[in-house]
Amino acid sequence: MNADDIKVLVLEDERSYLRLLEALLTEASGRGRSFAVTGADTLALALGLLGANSYDAILADLFLPDSAGLDTFTALCGRAGNTPIVLLTGLDNEALAEEALRRGAQDYLLKKMVTGENLSRALVYAIERNGIEVSLRASEEGYRSLIDALDDAIVVLDAELRVVMSNRAFKKASQADPSNPAVSGRKLQEAIPGLPAKCLETCRQALSEGRLITAEEPCLWNNRQSVLETRYIPIMPDGVAGRIVVVARDITERKQVEQLKDDFASLVSHELRAPLTSITAGIGMILEDGAGHLQEEEKQLLSISYKDAQRLNRIISKLLEMSRLNAGTSRFKKTVEDVAAIADEVVARFAGRAKCRGIELLKRYSPGKLETLLDADGITEVFTNLISNALKFTEKGYIEIGAAGTGDLIECYVKDTGTGISREDQTGLFMKFKRFGKPVAEEEKGTGLGLFIVKEILRRHGGTLSVASEPGKGTTFTFTLPKLAEEIPEAPEKRSGNLL
Ligand SMILES: Nc1ncnc2c1ncn2[C@@H]1O[C@H](COP(=O)(O)OP(=O)(O)OP(=O)(O)O)[C@@H](O)[C@H]1O
Ligand SMILES: [Mg+2]
Repeated sequence: MNADDIKVLVLEDERSYLRLLEALLTEASGRGRSFAVTGADTLALALGLLGANSYDAILADLFLPDSAGLDTFTALCGRAGNTPIVLLTGLDNEALAEEALRRGAQDYLLKKMVTGENLSRALVYAIERNGIEVSLRASEEGYRSLIDALDDAIVVLDAELRVVMSNRAFKKASQADPSNPAVSGRKLQEAIPGLPAKCLETCRQALSEGRLITAEEPCLWNNRQSVLETRYIPIMPDGVAGRIVVVARDITERKQVEQLKDDFASLVSHELRAPLTSITAGIGMILEDGAGHLQEEEKQLLSISYKDAQRLNRIISKLLEMSRLNAGTSRFKKTVEDVAAIADEVVARFAGRAKCRGIELLKRYSPGKLETLLDADGITEVFTNLISNALKFTEKGYIEIGAAGTGDLIECYVKDTGTGISREDQTGLFMKFKRFGKPVAEEEKGTGLGLFIVKEILRRHGGTLSVASEPGKGTTFTFTLPKLAEEIPEAPEKRSGNLL
């Protein structure tokens, strides 16, 4: 036997037929291939040989003295590992051979029709096909172990929201209730019974609109009340959404820590507000009424204290505002207002400061009224934060404030020629307490809450906020508000606010 020979184990109890097969395979050798045949006339002998040697292919008659039919095939499969099996069958056993094909046999040949050519071709193709299947299986197993290793739950659903595929984290969440059977083929709401109806609606929405949707969902997950960060990703072969991938991350702990921080900030700011107001008022009175009795040095010290107390007041107001927005207790009173008029008022308030710093304030409003339903205090706050940021981070140049009606929206922007924000810092820019670059004047250092508050106010108006910035060149914040059409429903309160 040569090392390159194709090693074939042949199960055949008729000695003369076994010899014929050997002869046919010898005859078919050539063209760079040759066969080395080992014969076995019982299943027991074949299993023994398979345990001790490795073969490239198995050629088997399923009817042997010690086993018959599919039992022979099942026993062979159990020992053959990845070795392909080709069956030899009589005319009356074709149905059996087809069943064996369904269970993993590579091919079958009718005994009467066997020739050297078709036998060798069947064996060679079986080995090739089998090789491809084995490497495909290995690659699939590789991907599977990769997605199984993730803590995020991943599930693929069909258009009826039935589970097509899922990873281990999803199955674990589904089986948190032990009475729940396997997930595959089941409807999503049966696989995870604690799932809120909102999740199913979002799946359908992502499928019908063919776009990615992200959400935070409070739900019963792994037997405990949790908050999930979910991504709904429609899969669109030929542009038609056919399936959807849902990726869910348990962010309960992160939310709880955030809530603790918010509660702490709220408590501290409430407690500090009253004493600080009286301190500021007291110092203010001394500076105004008693200035005549004060030494120059005392006056200077008191002025510094007064400024610091005012700064603390501003920080506390921001913290309180954030707490109210978080808790959903800030009441928005929406009336029909002209956005450009609100922007004008805010610009006028900043005019003095901008002039002192040599920065031009430009206004670009499209003609006509830009009216919509809004909370005037809220949108004033939005312009105030954005213009104050622009001033804080612009040393020279100009700040442009614009508003225009586009389609169903009113689009506003605040553009500056300041320091800009790096790409890295832009991610997470709208989160609480995020501060990056140094303000032009050190005393203008803020709390890092402004943009979070702006984003929250706009969210509650059904609007959006985005940023475009280039370090060294400047920044443009753009926000939208829905145009006046009908009563705009206020966006719901954050659903994860009452976790603790
Ligand atoms: N126009 C801008 N140019 C450059 N950087 C900016 C601009 N606007 C915001 N930033 C960056 O984003 C950070 C967050 O802004 P945000 O308004 O949330 O907080 P803040 O201005 O620092 O404090 P606060 O508004 O609470 O007083 C800023 O500290 C700054 O680093
Ligand atoms: Mg700010």
